Amino acid sequence: SSLRVGLIPADGIGKEVIPAAKQALEAVSADLPKLEFYDLIAGWECFTRTGVALPEETIETLKDGCDAALFGAVSSPSRKVVGYSSPIVQMRKQLDLYANIRPVRASNVDMIVVRENTECLYIKQETLVVGEHGKEARATRLITEHASRRIGQMAFELALSRPRKQVTIIHKSNVLSVTDGLFRETVRGVPKLAGVNGRYDGVTIAEQIVDSAVYRLFREPEIYDVMVAPNLYGDIISDAAAALVGSLGLVPSVNAGDSFVMGEPVHGSAPDIEGKGIANPLASIRSAALMLRHLGYAGPADRIDNAVDAVVREGQVMTPDLGGKNSTNDVVAEVLKRV
Ligand code: NAI
Ligand code: MG
Repeated sequence: SSLRVGLIPADGIGKEVIPAAKQALEAVSADLPKLEFYDLIAGWECFTRTGVALPEETIETLKDGCDAALFGAVSSPSRKVVGYSSPIVQMRKQLDLYANIRPVRASNVDMIVVRENTECLYIKQETLVVGEHGKEARATRLITEHASRRIGQMAFELALSRPRKQVTIIHKSNVLSVTDGLFRETVRGVPKLAGVNGRYDGVTIAEQIVDSAVYRLFREPEIYDVMVAPNLYGDIISDAAAALVGSLGLVPSVNAGDSFVMGEPVHGSAPDIEGKGIANPLASIRSAALMLRHLGYAGPADRIDNAVDAVVREGQVMTPDLGGKNSTNDVVAEVLKRV
């Protein structure tokens, strides 16, 4: 058998950091099924060249030919462009990647934010009408039992594999008792579902109102293990959590569903440093490790993560975002040496 990985560097420094992740995967290939890579295109530059941001061939290859993928970053136009919609959003939908998983580690922090990726306010049902007193804008917020249950189960599964085994449910059900109430109750009910009896007995459940969760995230981030949240709160919390780490260039993520996983560094296309060869490759390399972990290859994932951790800890070879003077390639070489 083989492990088929789609590579979608897309825009800007995506083109510089995805090759680094590929090299990290190749470095642990002895412990994996035969690796096969597929080079795929998407993004803003692709749109300006071809008129589509996510070509049919890219999505078909991912659906029918790949087990997983690595995505770099897209540049977004600053104003609305007719016909353009973000390829990452489209891919999440088409591949049913319902969870966005973002581990955040720093000296006193070891948490993982699990964000529901398909509903909440992001179903984008907005209307604008002119009422008696001027314009009135409305947005529909969708929370379903189905989506809350599967994201909840993803959070409990992740908690099981971690030393502290704690799930914190993020919500605002004191105000939004119907929507957030459903999210909270459904996630709380996951351990009682038929078919998982006893499986989550060792996991403790905590909960936190979203605003106080952000406060505590900055005051005492060490209290969190696995945080699970509806889409909008999850979006905000996962970026806030990333701020606890030294640089965006260190923070990985995966978009995961039941049959596909896509690694993605949290940062964007960084036009300010594009083409200079100084982008930090570590977020991308860690995203590759996270992708492997999600596919069940914990051994090779650990080897990559340990190598990255060692390079960061030693602090001898670093890109400028971390205060160093080294290039992307120098850092990649340093990681590969330790894998
Ligand atoms: P950004 O993440 O691209 O950059 C923010 C700052 O962090 C910049 O100073 C950049 O140089 C630095 N930085 C980011 N990643 C780095 C790395 N690996 N190594 C060293 N420095 C790094 O966010 P920004 O500037 O707000 O957005 C730029 C473009 O990226 C925009 O078009 C935006 O829409 C897009 N973007 C795409 C995302 C995605 O593909 N998921 C996420 C965020 C932004
Ligand atoms: Mg965000």
